[in-house]
Amino acid sequence: MDSILVRGNGPLNGSIHIAGAKNACLALMPATLLSDEPLTLTNAPRLSDIRTMALLLQSLGAEVTSLQEGKVLAMSSHDLTSHTADYDIVRKMRASFLVLGPLLARAGEASVSLPGGCAIGARPVDLHLKAMEALGADLELRDGYVHAKAQGGLKGAVIDFPMVSVGATENALMAATLAKGTTEIRNAAREPEIVDLARCLRAMGARIEGEGSATITIEGVDRLGGTTHPVVTDRIELGTYMLAPAICGGQVECLGGRIELVGAFCEKLDAAGISVEETERGLKVARKNGRVGAVDVKTEPFPGFPTDLQAQMMALLCTAEGSSVLEERIFENRFMHAPELTRMGANIEVHGGHATVHGVEKLRGARVMATDLRASVSLILAALAAEGETVVSRVYHLDRGYERVEEKLGACGALIERISGG
Ligand code: UD1
Repeated sequence: MDSILVRGNGPLNGSIHIAGAKNACLALMPATLLSDEPLTLTNAPRLSDIRTMALLLQSLGAEVTSLQEGKVLAMSSHDLTSHTADYDIVRKMRASFLVLGPLLARAGEASVSLPGGCAIGARPVDLHLKAMEALGADLELRDGYVHAKAQGGLKGAVIDFPMVSVGATENALMAATLAKGTTEIRNAAREPEIVDLARCLRAMGARIEGEGSATITIEGVDRLGGTTHPVVTDRIELGTYMLAPAICGGQVECLGGRIELVGAFCEKLDAAGISVEETERGLKVARKNGRVGAVDVKTEPFPGFPTDLQAQMMALLCTAEGSSVLEERIFENRFMHAPELTRMGANIEVHGGHATVHGVEKLRGARVMATDLRASVSLILAALAAEGETVVSRVYHLDRGYERVEEKLGACGALIERISGG
């Protein structure tokens, strides 16, 4: 298992190219199952989660070819050879569940392994299943799999989600494109990744209105065609690298960044004393002056502050002047980075869904362990500003969601290297 070694060495300066969004790409890839014509994604991120999704699609009979060093994914699902998403792949990555809607819509049946537990809470799939049932699927849970059938095809319906779910909205949206009649998704997720998926589906011939709002209306069509679609910028990678100069000082331009992807996050940065300037190429970030100020943060569905930036924001607030309260409202058990940050000298108290961070002057390097994807990058951010050496182990989590972290931060002056097998 690889580790990352960081030597804290002060301000960072330079520019970082922000990749296409992992979470958008993981929803766009299963859309290939909806059509017998080619779907090509450009601006794809080069990550292990993307390779896992490619393997899953290939196991269903799709062709997935990675071009231009992985930046382009050429997919074709002319013939589906299987309707079963196997436990061995699904257990590795929860987003695998996104093949359920497209398979069911195209083939009239699907068997998808239940994802099982995950490090950041129970994360059930009941909302995905309710949406498929509303569209007329018969579901049976057996041997750890959901076996879904829609004899005579899916039928348009009102799907009224009791809570906002990104994945369930995506599954419902894809399934509804080929359902007979009109579907209305209420209390839909409004994340940019949903908007990106709707745009791609529309380019494939789907009839969709209202993406980005709480109600999405889909008029089912008989078939979808192919298209070439650029994956939207990764707002979580963007926010993560925006925090690097905020924590270390200096000035970093995040290429491809746009304020509307990270509006609520920018408001909190501003309140903490970080300036964000829109440039022609992206977003330029620097500390306004002196020490970062404490701010309270509450995670919420988009357009609120994203849960996927909570751990990284905590890394910033560890050295802020004063105390900040972070409230995690999306996932239970998502403060596992707190004890690791404490090993680096942070002063954090966790009580249920709240974490109070009492700012300290300086963090110190330590051996720490990555517990999930966003936690691992928060430890790297903290390490950049800490005194001395930090070794972050179990970085396979990091490789699921961040491409070439060492290169990107190294180009801005960070002393960071990967230790193979360390
Ligand atoms: C997606 C993102 C993830 C992000 C999360 C919230 C992908 C691949 N992953 O995950 O990075 O942290 O959105 O922004 O896009 N829930 C249920 N029942 C369900 C589904 C969800 O109770 O059937 C709950 C979850 O436990 C959680 C909340 O709904 O408390 C939101 O989860 P959801 O939006 O579905 O997250 P994901 O789509 O899994």
